[in-house]
Formats: sequence, C-alpha cells, structure tokens
Amino acid sequence: MAQLAKPRGKTIGTAYRSTYAQNDPCYREVALAEFDSLTTEIGTMMNTVQPEPGVFDFREADAVADLAAQHHKDFQIHSLIWDPLDQLQWEIVPSAIRAMAPDRRHQLMIDSITTVMKRYAGRASTVTVVNEAFDQVGHLQPNAWWDTTHNDEYIFDAFRAARLADPTAELYYNDHSAETNSDKSNAIYDLVKRLRDTTVEVDVNGQTVARPLIDGMGFQGHMLGGADQQPNISDIESNVQRFAALGVDVRFTELDVRVPVLNGVATVADLDRQRLVYNMMTQVCLNQPRCTGLTLWGFTDKRSWITDYPDSFSGYGAATPLTDDYRRKPAWKGIADALR
Ligand code: XIL
Repeated sequence: MAQLAKPRGKTIGTAYRSTYAQNDPCYREVALAEFDSLTTEIGTMMNTVQPEPGVFDFREADAVADLAAQHHKDFQIHSLIWDPLDQLQWEIVPSAIRAMAPDRRHQLMIDSITTVMKRYAGRASTVTVVNEAFDQVGHLQPNAWWDTTHNDEYIFDAFRAARLADPTAELYYNDHSAETNSDKSNAIYDLVKRLRDTTVEVDVNGQTVARPLIDGMGFQGHMLGGADQQPNISDIESNVQRFAALGVDVRFTELDVRVPVLNGVATVADLDRQRLVYNMMTQVCLNQPRCTGLTLWGFTDKRSWITDYPDSFSGYGAATPLTDDYRRKPAWKGIADALR
C-alpha cells in the first residue's frame, strides 16, 4: 500500500498498538509491510501516558516510536488533549485529573503537553494537539480542558505549549464529522484560521522565528458505507479545500468505513459499497495538493475500535480493509485502485 502511495506524494499509515502484536506477529508484519507511518492509537492518550497526575508512563508510546524508528517509518502522535464527553467510561482524562481545581488542571495540561512533546522532539513528525473540541452544532464541548478557561483560550494555550516544546513537529487540530460543510466544520474553520493567524516566537537553530500555532487539520474520516450512506464527495472536497486555502496541511487521520453486519458478517453488496467509499476518500486526498495522506484507524477487522465497542456501533462493523485473518477485502482494492 505504502509503495503505491509514495510515488503519488502521499503517506499512508495506520494507528498502532504494540500490545496487539504480542500474540499475533502478523499484526506487526502487515503494519510494517504496508504502511509508511505509525500513529499511537492509545500510547499518547492521557490515561495511558499520564495515568495519575504527574506520573508518566511512556512504555506504549515508546514501543510505537521505537518500532517506527527501527523500520524508518514516520512516527505520528495522536491526541494529547481530548476528553470525549460521550464516552466518559473510557476515562481518557483520569479521574484524579478531572477532580483537580481548574487552574491546577490547566497547568497539568501545559506540563503534560510539554513533557510528551519534548520526549519525542525530533522523532514525531506530526502531533494532534487538541482533539474533538466541538459538538455537532459547532459549540465548544464543556469538557475538562474547556473548564480551565471557559472559552477556546485553552486550545491556544495547548498549541503554544506544544510549539515551544518542539518547534519542528507539525501541529494538528483533529475532529470527527467535520468532513463536509456544516455548522461544526464552520466553527472549526474559524478556530483553525485564528490559530493560523496567531504566532509564537520559537528558537530554531539559535535563531528566533515567529511560527503560527497550527500546521494542519485532521479530518478523522469515520465513514459509513451502507446503502444510502455514501458520502457527498464534492461537499467533502470543497470543505477540505477551504481549510487548505488557510495554508495548513490536511489529512484523513482515522479513516475507517463501517458497514451493516449480522453476527459480524457484512453482505457482498455492502463490502462493495465500502470499497467505493475508501476509493473516493483516497481520491479526495490525491486531488488535494495540501493533503499529506491517509491514516487508517486500524487495518484489520480483528483489531478495530468499531468492533471493540459494539455498543457504540450497534449493527455495524467490518470497518477496515483487511479481514480478521488479514485477507484483502474489496476495500483494499478500493484504496489501491485510486493510488495506481
Ligand atoms: C479510540 C481507540 O481506537 C481505542 O483503542 C481507545 O480505547 C479509544 O479511542 N476518535 C479518536 C480516536 O480520535 O482517538 C479514538 O480511538 C476513536 C475516535
């Protein structure tokens, strides 16, 4: 897959979790054979990297970073600041951190970003600094990070801290259901524009330079592939284009395409519709000069958050381009055909 993407100037990568490879060498081998970038699926989420206030655990993130370095893969960090209010049971923000007074929680946010960014400085190519700050109608989510400033100032503070800690990494804002033009993507567009218009002075090779706070916009790309669920591609293209026109890179950062399943099995017709969605999303990226590529949020149906959380995705599954036993589904051909 990566071999096809490279001549097209795009990086195709996957989310990666080292524990999945422990009893399943295939997981690691396929990831390394087919993808050019590895993104921490959980390694840099706060509950993994800082399970208690001030107590860091880099084992999972290091495992992904080291594997990437050994195999000359691009290493990408996902989601330093995230508090999904609709999935509080995941405890991405550990309860002891949620319980802190807002001013102390704000300082912890800055310290956490600084610590993780400095550890991977020079190794991480791109970093999702803030994830999912908005709700579906474009209002700021009243999450544990918002609660430290009660406006979007916390987002600016987060990006400033990230830039100062590692002036070389590409910094991204990331969100879901923002692929098309909508109230939500309008609000994100406004935020990204203001982040782009705000600079911070950093030291690069002994020189002080003013850098904008943001470099990229990540569209998660958790798509649906069933009948009457095909995405409106021209809508996606025009939305992605307006972000690119701000001078930032864009990327589909968590691409997967879930389809209706019965006992985990999708119909032949739905798998073919899924192929088309993967094909079209790849095409959107190819047609957009500022699109750096695609990251798949898992590459085998054996290891996908869609199948891991059946309650969240009742009746849907089979979202990745490889089967449980790593055989290529039509979706794989959908991506490859676009890249050829
Ligand atoms: C998911 C991971 O895939 C799971 O392993 C983890 O338990 C929870 O998070 N949007 C995001 C990703 O930005 O970080 C989420 O990943 C999926 C939704």
